[in-house]
Amino acid sequence: MDKVVLAFSGGLDTTVCVRLLEENYNLEVVTVCVDVGQPKEEVKKAEEAAKQLNVKKHYTIDGKDEFANDYISKGIKANAVYEGYPLSTAIARPLIAMKTIEIAEKEEASAIAHGCTGKGNDQFRFEAVIRSMSDFDIIAPIRELNLTRTEEIDYAKKHKIPLSPDKMYSIDENIWGRSIEGSILEDPANEPPEEIYQWTASPRNANENPEKVVVEFEEGIPVAINGKLMPLLDLITVANEIAGKNGVGRIDTIENRMIGLKSREIYEVPGAILLIKAHQALEELVLTKDELLFAEFMSTKYADLVYSALWHEPLREDMDQAIDYMQRRVCGKVVMKLFKGSIIPLSRKSNYSLHDIEQISFEDKENDQKEVEGMIKYHGLQANIYQKLNR
Ligand code: ARG
Repeated sequence: MDKVVLAFSGGLDTTVCVRLLEENYNLEVVTVCVDVGQPKEEVKKAEEAAKQLNVKKHYTIDGKDEFANDYISKGIKANAVYEGYPLSTAIARPLIAMKTIEIAEKEEASAIAHGCTGKGNDQFRFEAVIRSMSDFDIIAPIRELNLTRTEEIDYAKKHKIPLSPDKMYSIDENIWGRSIEGSILEDPANEPPEEIYQWTASPRNANENPEKVVVEFEEGIPVAINGKLMPLLDLITVANEIAGKNGVGRIDTIENRMIGLKSREIYEVPGAILLIKAHQALEELVLTKDELLFAEFMSTKYADLVYSALWHEPLREDMDQAIDYMQRRVCGKVVMKLFKGSIIPLSRKSNYSLHDIEQISFEDKENDQKEVEGMIKYHGLQANIYQKLNR
């Protein structure tokens, strides 16, 4: 019997996929769950589900440090935010796909399967990586059989597939964020119920007093929080906790998906918002106006590539080089103030600061103010000539 390796989360889609691959495709199933910082219980649940489903073999791969150091760090340096969404799901998919390929090679499988539906972006993300980085056949049972969520639940019941009770929403979680979709959230007219949020306090119940957080950056990467040096993975965990309890990081948006559909998306991204906002606050201090403009342009393009399943597009690597070069000076300390859902920079300091306190001061006498007169005369010269003609 041919073997297939399935990227497995233990959620509804991938659980149903196991049986479908066995029964409809006549394949032996090996499951892979890549730990990218989803709750530990989820990783456990995937292991247990695999056991209960009697799969041939189940792998749990710890990808957390690699995710933080090789993916999220790039996302921070690039301020990778798509339509207001700090790319959490999107930036984890390439790593999950790469790890699944590794297992498929090791297992000498004939194909790789994923549980994505035919509506979302994740199908593009998995398949782009699998196609670019391997020669495996790809199977997408949910999409190929055009199954609805209700049909999946019926199928699971009929085949006595154990389901965890909370199957109302489709949730994707990793260390960089949590996305909640489906059910009543599908209609943008519906207000999201408070129960969907798990990482962030509602501003009403958030800390009563503002909290200051000090983030220190080294070449664009956060290296310390509140004075404590720590690996990026740990730092993100701390950032999630602090921002979450202050109600920072809830996003409710209408997103433009790759296939053209508009979809209502809800995210909890407390740590990502804290770290990216702090990063931008520091960039404002150390980069020139032109660098900032160009960085913003790259940022938009970067986020678009990552969102659109083009992690392996060479332009992403080209931009990483340019961004890394620019980020050499993004070193210093930022103090952010968090209070009931709001977040603002309070203080920024860097040895690379381009802000000249003496020249900007109203008390400065050394730079003769009169000297600027010549510059003013010529500023907007062409507009000046044009308007004279008009008059
Ligand atoms: N819309 C987001 C994205 O495309 C999140 C997708 C989350 N996936 C999920 N199965 N809940 O990146």
